[in-house]
Amino acid sequence: MRILAIETSCDETAIALVEAEGGIKSPKFKVLKNLITSQVKIHRPFGGVVPNLAKREHLKNLPILFKQIQNTKYKIQDIDLIAVTVGPGLEPALWTGINFAESLYKEFQASSFKFQAKLVGANHLSGHLYSFLLGQKTSNSKHEARNSKQKKFGFRNSDFVFPAIALLVSGGHTILLLMKDLTHYKKLGETRDDAVGECFDKMARLLELPYPGGPEIEKLAKLGNPKAVDFPRPMLNQKNYDFSFSGLKTSVLYFLRDKGNATCKKVDVAASFQAAAFDVLIKKTLRAVEEFGAKSVMISGGVAANHSLRNAFRSALKLKTWNLKLKPQLLVTKFPTDNAAMIAAGAYVDFLNKKKYKMVANGNLSL
Ligand code: KG4
Ligand code: ZN
Repeated sequence: MRILAIETSCDETAIALVEAEGGIKSPKFKVLKNLITSQVKIHRPFGGVVPNLAKREHLKNLPILFKQIQNTKYKIQDIDLIAVTVGPGLEPALWTGINFAESLYKEFQASSFKFQAKLVGANHLSGHLYSFLLGQKTSNSKHEARNSKQKKFGFRNSDFVFPAIALLVSGGHTILLLMKDLTHYKKLGETRDDAVGECFDKMARLLELPYPGGPEIEKLAKLGNPKAVDFPRPMLNQKNYDFSFSGLKTSVLYFLRDKGNATCKKVDVAASFQAAAFDVLIKKTLRAVEEFGAKSVMISGGVAANHSLRNAFRSALKLKTWNLKLKPQLLVTKFPTDNAAMIAAGAYVDFLNKKKYKMVANGNLSL
């Protein structure tokens, strides 16, 4: 199945062409094209994404990116599925993608009787969740290089992976899921206020760093002492799997106001904040791994791009003594931040699983 995927839920305009085969049992993907135009520079002066500016930029960028797809050897008539993100995200931005996909679809239907594709709505969160199917980062760089040369990334829906605990950490979401297999999952918990990525973005503003904050905080944190300030670990000791990050942000705010610059360097504040946020994510995830006997931990979403998070997860998994049967592996997606290849992967699984989404922008769509 050849899939054309379109993603405009936030500040990245993205179009991808992906080949998928193998069905739900052993999905395999080949990313033929994965095009992204970032709007970061446009939103940066405002310290965050401005929905109407995002809409204007998507309208400008979508035809440019699509032309690049048309200029490749791949023929539009050979597309089997057009998938467009319908939510969650900024509704004005989502509508640009939906309208673009619908007009493309009509245009191709009118121009060629050979064009048999289906048009489907895609869930951005399914995209993040299933992005690990497109390939994973490994701790071994040699292995990673070999992997990235592979043309097709394959996955067997095997007993080595499931049950799995999936942690989706982005700018809009912080969700912990128990996956019985690829298509059967249950939400264990989520954030009750800010998403962890949003908290990184707000922290960056407090520390006068540019938007988006995640990569900036990560850079600064590398130079600092994570033990310099003992920031709170919200909800860490509660038995549930929910998270809360707005209290952590407020603690940093008060710390900076009351004693910040005089007693502590910015790098130390960044490192201590990051350590507190990741401590909660990792400890709660590991508790779920133990409770449900998970064989793997999957991390996806923009915050999963953070090297310290991945390394801390790897060490925590290694350090913990598991019983002999349970030695969970870490699967980190190669496509953490927003892109359209992941939308193709999510749409493929949802399409085969007969999970349908209306062609209407839904800012609050959930999994
Ligand atoms: O998944 P994503 O690209 O978009 C959403 O679906 O939200 O995630 C974007 C979020 C932003 O909040 C950004 O600051 C955060 O991911 N992020 C990071 C890093 N790279 C991006 N957070 C921490 N460390 C990073 N390296
Ligand atoms: Zn996202």
